[in-house]
Amino acid sequence: RLSRRALLAAGAAWGVGAVLAPARTGFARAPAAFEPTARLTLAAGETDLRLLGADKPASRIYAYDGQPFRQLRYPRGTRLEATYVNGLSEGSSLHFHGIRMPNEYDGVPPLTQPLVEPGGRFVHRLPLDDPGTFFFHPHCDETGQAGRGLVGVLIVEDPRDPIFDAEEVLCLKDWRLGEDGGYLPLTEPDGASKAGTFGATRTVNGLPHLDLTAPAGGDVRLRILNVDSTRIMDIGVEGGEAWLIAVDGHALPPVALDSLPDGIWRMGPAQRIDLHLRMPAKGGPVTLGDYRAADVYSFATITPKGRRAGKPRKAPLALPAPELPMPDVEAAEFHSFTLQQATDAAVKELGLPPDDPLAKALVASFCVGRATYWSIGQVSWAAGDRLGLPPPLVAMAEGRSYRIEIKNETRFPHPIHLHGHAFAVLRSSKGRLPRHFADTVLVQPGEAVEIAFVAAPGDWVFHCHILEHMETGMMGWFRIL
Ligand code: C2O
Ligand code: CU
Repeated sequence: RLSRRALLAAGAAWGVGAVLAPARTGFARAPAAFEPTARLTLAAGETDLRLLGADKPASRIYAYDGQPFRQLRYPRGTRLEATYVNGLSEGSSLHFHGIRMPNEYDGVPPLTQPLVEPGGRFVHRLPLDDPGTFFFHPHCDETGQAGRGLVGVLIVEDPRDPIFDAEEVLCLKDWRLGEDGGYLPLTEPDGASKAGTFGATRTVNGLPHLDLTAPAGGDVRLRILNVDSTRIMDIGVEGGEAWLIAVDGHALPPVALDSLPDGIWRMGPAQRIDLHLRMPAKGGPVTLGDYRAADVYSFATITPKGRRAGKPRKAPLALPAPELPMPDVEAAEFHSFTLQQATDAAVKELGLPPDDPLAKALVASFCVGRATYWSIGQVSWAAGDRLGLPPPLVAMAEGRSYRIEIKNETRFPHPIHLHGHAFAVLRSSKGRLPRHFADTVLVQPGEAVEIAFVAAPGDWVFHCHILEHMETGMMGWFRIL
């Protein structure tokens, strides 16, 4: 266990004035007493949405409770009992991305639970202790299910947050649609083995563009989520002053967007940011865009309407520092994992007989017949006819601190996600990243990024969040005992 002294030392070295959490490292495997303070039933199903435009054919999408990008909000400290009901005609599961929780509720078949069959249910018991912007999605056939829209937003509110004049949630997702509103193939070998198979119909909250208003001189909190399966976005703001105030839900001392390279925050699939936008006191609208592509996707316009009641403020509004287990970076055990294109030699096969229950669960949880293109630490979570659960990348001890280097030797960026933890992003070999906590970190080609965390008990997957990459090998797991 971490001593209080070690925690203080790590906190001082951290230098962001984070509040030190008690040395709680995780959660018991089976929490004896869980008294829900909120209950929820969340049903996956199909619904129609006009994604191509009001006068074009509708598309059949997957959604929770029939609501595209279903949004949940709970105060911090809520004990949420969420019953997932699978109303799809295929097996599925529910994963709350970024939430620290007991491993058994993580929603990853076949590692933490069986697949939820059509009509089946699964009860998740979630302690919502970390405030922030989170999301949820299935954890099987992700390109198929999340690709058809099965994604929701979970906001955990912190009563200690500063009061903003307005708040907006912006969920960015592209769709692979044909003229008739039906789907183009959601994955193709050329995409899966490279940067991914991109959608051309770009949306924010299911619309091509959002027209919003906010008081002139006012302070707006923007919660921006990249819930796309594939696309990496360069989020920028024009016409107003903006600060990055949280990454993946976790607060950091405000960073002026203008002070970052190119004035953008690069965000891969699954990553979220909270921006504090200060509306100009006079003058025109503010636009939000993805500046990565040659043709900028401007996804929202915020027009001043009325005037902020008080005087416009000067300094940015910082969120309270996160209360997370603080890794002891000095004493941490070090591991390095390389992201690579998988060669056959790198594919470790277990060769399970096809009627083995584990093999069946694996077949059900990923699409059969996919190739294996990627590896982490020379191991692929193989798909297709090479199915087999790989051995854990590393066995860890609960409560110990770990420092993990992720080296990208491929030609493509990869947003790497670890379940069940919020990790500290310590450094990028390109000097690109401010120190922050996150659950997903983008690793550029040729870059090495170092993260550190205090291990929480369970079997936790560690994977690329470009969904085709994870489904074709770029996934491993840590066993923490
Ligand atoms: Cu957003 Cu393994 O998940
Ligand atoms: Cu990837």
